[in-house]
Amino acid sequence: MGLFIVFEGIDGSGKTTQAKKLYHYLKEKNLKTVLTKEPGGTEEGKKIREILLNKDYSIPPIAELLLYEADRSIHINNFVKPKLNNNFIVISDRYIYSTLAYQHFGRGIERRIIDFLNSITTGDLIPDIVFLFDIPVEESLRRLNRFEKDRIEKESIDFHKKLREGFLKLAKENEEIFYLIDATKSIEDIFRDIKNILNIRFNI
Ligand code: ADP
Ligand code: TYD
Repeated sequence: MGLFIVFEGIDGSGKTTQAKKLYHYLKEKNLKTVLTKEPGGTEEGKKIREILLNKDYSIPPIAELLLYEADRSIHINNFVKPKLNNNFIVISDRYIYSTLAYQHFGRGIERRIIDFLNSITTGDLIPDIVFLFDIPVEESLRRLNRFEKDRIEKESIDFHKKLREGFLKLAKENEEIFYLIDATKSIEDIFRDIKNILNIRFNI
């Protein structure tokens, strides 16, 4: 079995930047590695992602939840599991913890519904490690202000504060796999932290 590495955190916390750096670093070491994301890690999922992030669409919370879970079912079963079975290192930008943060702690959908859907879409696939990028909401929104915001990023500061707190709760519940990253540090300092942690835990 390969290694399943997940990056989580609020929008603008710097996940994508680090996931890409890690991907190139591992490829240079000649390790079999793929970089993927939710939503939109597959051809089919890209269509779902377009619906989810279109800022002109109005999507009720339950429909939103089911679309993220549909994307996940395709992504995990058609792409992630086959790669892990083929001994790849899979780096995923977001996974089940994003659904708990955004759709439960953010939108208020009952936790048991989301736990159930996460369980059946993934067959209870748990990552080997989760890097949680923690950053004050004001700072992450400042970073995003330079770009046009999508449907989710347009939510209020209060919504994003609920997400940050939710992610921190999830980290406490899953201490064996979560590593907290101080996402206010420089890109190079964060990358050094990530490399150190992976080296200590998995010898890579
Ligand atoms: P996310 O994937 O979590 O939304 P990104 O990696 O896309 O975050 O980063 C959002 C913005 O912040 C980008 O413009 C990126 O260049 C910038 N950024 C990323 N990491 C840092 C950092 N450590 N310090 C300052 N700016 C950063
Ligand atoms: P993403 O492309 O990671 O955005 P960013 O790079 O800005 O962090 O994710 C798209 C949006 O989807 C993001 O706002 C988080 C949200 N999301 C959920 O609300 N629930 C989920 O289950 C997932 C995977 C993402």
